[in-house]
Amino acid sequence: MAKHLIDKPDNLEDGGPGVPVSVEGRQIALYEFEGSIYAVDNRCPHRGGPMADGPVSGPTITCPLHSWSFDMRSGEAVGRPGATIACFAVSKDPSGKIAVEIA
Ligand code: FES
Repeated sequence: MAKHLIDKPDNLEDGGPGVPVSVEGRQIALYEFEGSIYAVDNRCPHRGGPMADGPVSGPTITCPLHSWSFDMRSGEAVGRPGATIACFAVSKDPSGKIAVEIA
């Protein structure tokens, strides 16, 4: 896994909606929840819906197309055993940027 440094988006708010960003050509959705930043694939594993456009409730993110929900912290689907969305480790870099680990 390689760490990629990106600027923290100005519109990323704790408890707020997802923010889509491109990291090394990969579309990911960033979220902030209780002071931590989480990153998931911005393509829903069901049929590719844009996760960052869906509603957020606590740590639960919901795809805007057919309402599959996932826990942004683990990637596990809510009520759909075995279904997951790809998650990427995020850390705060001493430079002030955020580091996203993507293979
Ligand atoms: S594309 Fe996300 S629930 Fe169908």
